[in-house]
Amino acid sequence: MTKVAIILGTRPEIIKMSPIIRACEEKSVDYFILHTGQHYSYEMDRAFFNDMELPEPKYNLDVGSGTHAVQTAKILTGIEDILIKEKPDVVLVQGDTNTVMAGALAASKLHIKVGHVEAGLRSYDRTMPEEINRIIADHISDYLYAPTETSRQNLLKEGIPDEKIFVTGNTVVDAVYQNLEISEKHVNVLSDLGITSKNYFLVTMHRAENVDVKEHLSSVLEALRFISEKYSLPVIFPMHPRTVKMVKEFGLSLEGITVLKPLGYLEFLQLEKHARVILTDSGGLQEEGCILGTPCVTLRDNTERPETVDVGANVLAGTDLIHICQGIACKMTDSKHTWLNPYGDGNTGKQIVDLLWK
Ligand code: UD1
Ligand code: UDP
Repeated sequence: MTKVAIILGTRPEIIKMSPIIRACEEKSVDYFILHTGQHYSYEMDRAFFNDMELPEPKYNLDVGSGTHAVQTAKILTGIEDILIKEKPDVVLVQGDTNTVMAGALAASKLHIKVGHVEAGLRSYDRTMPEEINRIIADHISDYLYAPTETSRQNLLKEGIPDEKIFVTGNTVVDAVYQNLEISEKHVNVLSDLGITSKNYFLVTMHRAENVDVKEHLSSVLEALRFISEKYSLPVIFPMHPRTVKMVKEFGLSLEGITVLKPLGYLEFLQLEKHARVILTDSGGLQEEGCILGTPCVTLRDNTERPETVDVGANVLAGTDLIHICQGIACKMTDSKHTWLNPYGDGNTGKQIVDLLWK
């Protein structure tokens, strides 16, 4: 019987691996979870295991934060020891973080099969650390689970053989469907915050190229204050720890913005569903807005999720104040929120686990 190692390390990986973990549980697969500890604060890590009632990781490397080289090196060496001991037949990684690149590399050097969940995404911007991680992970993987035909084509263009690629949809759809219902039964974040459906903007931002550059971060904060006043709507901003750190370091004002700690998934899904518009540089939020029928303005000049733009759910604005205001104006007046979700029917986790046996 195939033994599977599920490697994860950050908030989005916990969320997007959760449907695969559930499918492994349902099918009594011989698997274990290896957490690198890239994310470690309660609200970036444990909160998600609790919210989604996920089984405990068998290992946690506790690598914590560091430069790219330090973090990647710690993950590589930590994972290698465990893989040598556990001898899994296949390692699954998800997405584009340092955890993913290091996990895939450690496994492939040990001649263990690698499955990359969410393969083939490309922003074609190699200044993004995530783009480098994606390219490396895709090129050393044996099974590439591409969410859409577009991502499959990206892989084919790079010479990856078709027989390694499986178009499966994205596990984010499963995660949204599996958790939204639970969320609506158990939490009521809107009334807790004193806001009402479709009467607020929801913001997240954490990309290095945005928050580590003072002009970009301050320009977005100014734009948020501007749109809040112009439309008389509150701006709700659950803030990633990296962004908190940089706002403090640059001495920027958060006046006029409702800043919260990062929220648990059940609360956050509700906020996304009921927001008037989402403003974000997150990959996961672009997808979830599209799935939930909430329009999105992306605070980046490019996206590796072009499907969201093509169906009319998302518009790219970057960090320039005028462009953000134009993006918001376009999404505030756009009443057709009836696009088709391009990321599948919510059975991606099961499909991927089934494919491992074929
Ligand atoms: C990482 C990923 C990014 C992903 C994001 C998801 C890489 C290169 N980046 O970015 O692709 O979109 O996770 O959120 O892998 N920090 C805490 N507590 C935590 C984690 C981080 O306080 O639990 C703070 C630390 O100050 C740390 C900073 O956030 O230095 C950045 O953390 P890091 O994991 O390096 O990158 P992210 O920005 O989280
Ligand atoms: N998320 C959350 N609470 C928050 C902010 C985000 O649960 O306060 C979830 C969100 O629903 C999505 C994921 O975290 O599923 C996105 O993670 P992030 O933006 O950190 O990473 P990215 O998707 O950009 O890699």
